[in-house]
Amino acid sequence: MFSSGKNMYDIEISDLRKLIQLVKDKYDYDFKDYAMSSFKRRIKRIIELYKFDSVDALVEKLTHTPSFFEEFVSEVTVNVTEMFRDPSFWVVVRDEIIPNILSSHNKISIWHAGCSSGEEVFSMQILLEEMGIRDKSHTVATDIDTAIINRAKNASISQKNMELNTSNYERYQGKYVLDKYFSKNKDRYHFNQDILSNVSFRKHDLVKGQVFSKFDIVLCRNVMIYFNQTLQNSVLKTLHESLFKYGFLCIGSKESLIWCDISNKFSVINNEEKIYKKSRD
Ligand SMILES: C[S@@+](CC[C@H](N)C(=O)[O-])C[C@H]1O[C@@H](n2cnc3c(N)ncnc32)[C@H](O)[C@@H]1O
Repeated sequence: MFSSGKNMYDIEISDLRKLIQLVKDKYDYDFKDYAMSSFKRRIKRIIELYKFDSVDALVEKLTHTPSFFEEFVSEVTVNVTEMFRDPSFWVVVRDEIIPNILSSHNKISIWHAGCSSGEEVFSMQILLEEMGIRDKSHTVATDIDTAIINRAKNASISQKNMELNTSNYERYQGKYVLDKYFSKNKDRYHFNQDILSNVSFRKHDLVKGQVFSKFDIVLCRNVMIYFNQTLQNSVLKTLHESLFKYGFLCIGSKESLIWCDISNKFSVINNEEKIYKKSRD
């Protein structure tokens, strides 16, 4: 129930626990270790959006309407993304990280964990294309949210979002103009699918900790910010195991490895851009 008082939409922690337990038991998704304040805000948003009158009503819907679960996951997770987000990060990837990897191998494997609608993936593929090494790369892009993966595969971006993407690409000092990689249809921009030929998009839940391959670079940017310290530690263990020795881990600008159990197995490559190297198995 919503508690009465100044804010009638304040959700009781016991109601959140009930919801999390139902989702875990029925759908095998575990949101227990998500950062509770932002998780609670997302639940409030769902309740308002779908006009439920209580958390119990949402629990009822999830209990009896499995088809609603996909929408629930989309609404409960934060999917905000942009191409060439933090342009200075991409400059370091282009000028330092990729050349470093290619100095010792002739192939490069990349995992985008929490890829959202794909903008980070499109950015990396453009970077590789402009370096003339896209054919030496293999990329896996994953997310927990099936609907968002389908959007990423579809690779279509609204005109409104293209403005920020274009400005980021210019700040990154890309070789051409960003429009070159898109065809326009009404107010949507469709990313050239040929440039995604070495990418496979799949569903993967970081909470479950499954290691499915080894990579030279893992990008998990702006994902762990929504997790509590316990879950961050366990996800970092998965990411560490998924990297080759001396592989690179890239996290978001507001994230850090400093307080994590595994920080001594990484060395800092660029503190500003949050790029780390796996230094120990
Ligand atoms: C804010 S977006 C970040 C997108 C992109 N990495 C970037 O920095 O622009 C966070 C993404 O993490 C995904 N996510 C949340 N929990 C996850 C989990 N347990 N496993 C995999 N992905 C998850 C969300 O669905 C969302 O698409």
